[in-house]
Amino acid sequence: MNTNNILWHDHHITKEDRSFIKQQRPCILWFTGLSGSGKSTIANALENKLYEMGKHTYLLDGDNVRHALNKDLGFSDSDRVENIRRIGEVSKLFADAGLIVISAFISPFQSDRQIVRNLVNQNEFIEVFIDAPIEICEQRDPKGLYQKARCGEIKNFTGIDSPYEAPMNPDIHIKTDVMSVDESVQLIIDTLINQGYLNG
Ligand code: ADX
Repeated sequence: MNTNNILWHDHHITKEDRSFIKQQRPCILWFTGLSGSGKSTIANALENKLYEMGKHTYLLDGDNVRHALNKDLGFSDSDRVENIRRIGEVSKLFADAGLIVISAFISPFQSDRQIVRNLVNQNEFIEVFIDAPIEICEQRDPKGLYQKARCGEIKNFTGIDSPYEAPMNPDIHIKTDVMSVDESVQLIIDTLINQGYLNG
């Protein structure tokens, strides 16, 4: 679409103002990992912990977003690219609102995660690799989807017949086959504290 006749409005209240009254620095905690790796579980536990600490958050999760905003998208490579592009823009808006955003999506392609990183300031994107070997994810199979994929009932399933490009240099690396949920949450909280995100 031609956006020549659409002007950008600069608002009086800035991202800095909005985060100042929340006593935090906004960021996007971008969770990437295979289905069944533990993204939603850790994301929920992390949001609970941040809430207890009086922090302002928003959690975006693959299964929920695909029921609403992205219900027109499937799991072809191009639909996954569009899925992550939209989520990236939504995450950016929530960060602009001053929130700590937790975005939990398989987001299998390195290039798409890089595009989201480039949407925001350098210190506002934190890539969190929720890592578990595919054999473990398949054993867990919390939604029975691996079984369906193995039977050929689901096509293009990540890790089976659709690729997953693991982060080469994640900001936080969580191996959920050896770390508990509490340990995983604590590692993320410690990183946020050490890097000053939880202070005004
Ligand atoms: S992404 O690849 O586009 O980032 P997203 O995180 O939104 O994926 O959605 C993944 C969720 O959709 C999985 O947790 C799983 O429950 C469900 N799902 C359904 N079909 C597939 C598929 N073919 N591949 C991966 N996940 C699928």
